[in-house]
Amino acid sequence: MTVRAPAKINLFLGVGGLRRDGYHAVTNVAQAVSLYDEVTARAARGVSAAVRGEGAGAVPSGLGNLAVRAAEALRAYAGVQSGVHLEIRKTIPVAAGLAGGSADAAAALVACDRLWRTGLDRDALTSLAADCGSDVPFALSGGVGLGTGRGEQVSPVLVAGEYHWVLAFASGGLSTPAVYSEFDRLQGIGAFSPGAQPAVASPDGIAQVVTEPPPADGVLSALRHADAGLLADVLRNDLAAAAVRLRPDLSRTLDAGREMGALAAIVSGSGPTCAFLTATRDERIRLAAGIAGAGVCRAVQQVSGPVPGARVVSDPQRSPTALDSS
Ligand code: C5P
Repeated sequence: MTVRAPAKINLFLGVGGLRRDGYHAVTNVAQAVSLYDEVTARAARGVSAAVRGEGAGAVPSGLGNLAVRAAEALRAYAGVQSGVHLEIRKTIPVAAGLAGGSADAAAALVACDRLWRTGLDRDALTSLAADCGSDVPFALSGGVGLGTGRGEQVSPVLVAGEYHWVLAFASGGLSTPAVYSEFDRLQGIGAFSPGAQPAVASPDGIAQVVTEPPPADGVLSALRHADAGLLADVLRNDLAAAAVRLRPDLSRTLDAGREMGALAAIVSGSGPTCAFLTATRDERIRLAAGIAGAGVCRAVQQVSGPVPGARVVSDPQRSPTALDSS
């Protein structure tokens, strides 16, 4: 059973205050792009994983692996006795701000659900996904999603058009918690900061004061017009300054892309991947060659979005014609 799941680029990542649970309230518009990890699930005794491909050495194979945690979560939820061995083939760089670990977890959920014939509905899978990480529900659905809460409450955004990006991969990664901490330091804000507005009810009914993240109206409107130029003007990532602070070399990468004519240059998520939007496929080819030649990153990759979320690509239990094509 093989499932592939896409990387994502954040078109808008508005970050609000730190919540009591250690997460930040966010407004997150993410686009799934054509860079995929694949997870093959085979029946086994316990739950285990082997990781191959891009950055595999940096990925844990035990419970530190999000895909293993996703399989364990599904197994416990559905009361499954059998186990699974997950073979994870990585193309999405690790700790790169592209939600590669979340893609693996989403792929593992879909693969194990099919392998174990647990037949969970979308809501149940999404809820297990949210328990695995804030970006995992989006990796299940793909396309373009508006994430609220800590990013895990995702609603689909209908988008016209196709967007062309050049990704510049950096050497090494960035830790998401470290980037959020740096964001807090730069803002001079912490949990329950004085003057923070407005009150958000917490599950125990005690009002919790969290600074609201900014709304993503500009990006949502640009996406409705299917105009890359309009979108370029409203892309926003509140974590960018923190990522650049931790990795000052990213400024050179971003500047190089801008100077070579990218419509926009952004840090993806918590970085260190930089993403450059272009108007056309031809522009993308030209820009990718320019950035690669400038020596300002480890590698470049051309991608398009939006693409679907985690999908079965090979299922030995069913005939090829019966595979999901959705
Ligand atoms: O949800 P996930 O496990 O991917 O988050 C990893 C870390 O990133 C969290 O432990 C937290 O430090 C930070 N984070 C955050 N606010 C969010 C999402 C993630 O502070 N909305």
